[in-house]
Amino acid sequence: MFIKNNFDEQIIHLLEVDSTNNYAHYLIDNQKDNEQLCGKIIFADYQTQGRGAYQNTWESKRAENLLVSFILCPKILAEKQFVISKITSLALIEFLRENEIKAQIKWPNDILVSYKKISGILIENTIQGNKIKYSIVGVGVNINQTLFLEKLNATSIKLLTQKKILNFFKLVKKIWQLIEKYLDLYNTNSDEIHNLYFANLIGTKKFLNYRAGSSEFKAKISGIDEFGRIMLLTENGDEKIFGFKEVELLMSAD
Ligand code: BTN
Repeated sequence: MFIKNNFDEQIIHLLEVDSTNNYAHYLIDNQKDNEQLCGKIIFADYQTQGRGAYQNTWESKRAENLLVSFILCPKILAEKQFVISKITSLALIEFLRENEIKAQIKWPNDILVSYKKISGILIENTIQGNKIKYSIVGVGVNINQTLFLEKLNATSIKLLTQKKILNFFKLVKKIWQLIEKYLDLYNTNSDEIHNLYFANLIGTKKFLNYRAGSSEFKAKISGIDEFGRIMLLTENGDEKIFGFKEVELLMSAD
């Protein structure tokens, strides 16, 4: 959509940076006249202050994993911004499938394989009026790292396939192409994006354990609304709606 023919010119490769998302913010905040930032890609070997969702940190050993931020200029209303999470999640699911890995989405946008995290997404949008001006889509994918702190409950392509990947540029390009593909699909058939996202979500078919505040309950996902809120159907037939961070899937207790 933005950079079909000049991928190499759009990509910035850094050996070390605090966070590729921060670097993208810096580019946006210091944009020069006529500088085209839509489609810029920042990719780093190492982050000193990698950021995760909800003020968490994102740890990754030097040069072992993919750490990348894409600057998108999607023509999407601010109130529809959850669509970017859906698009990026679907791109990553397909990227992993092409690497022989069957992954699923844990709402809202964690990518897991057998309940272990292989990829995380941090989306930060700048809004102008009622529209998204820039969307910084930060993606971390565990590629060659094989040792993780146990509490992270993480996995990687190497752990799952025994294959070591050397050409990270190729991976970045592939993910970019898949994001473009799903953005195009959104523009022609937004319902299809929603259906694909829902079809790849963990917890739509069976009752799993959730915690909201101090209460724990079993529920099945019955829907995701247009704002990205999760609709849970409890075992006794109640329907509950939660925003981000208001409810947590308890993954160990099945
Ligand atoms: C999560 O908590 O699951 C989101 C993790 C996002 C990590 C990526 S790595 C590249 C980009 N830069 C950051 O600082 N974070 C994102």
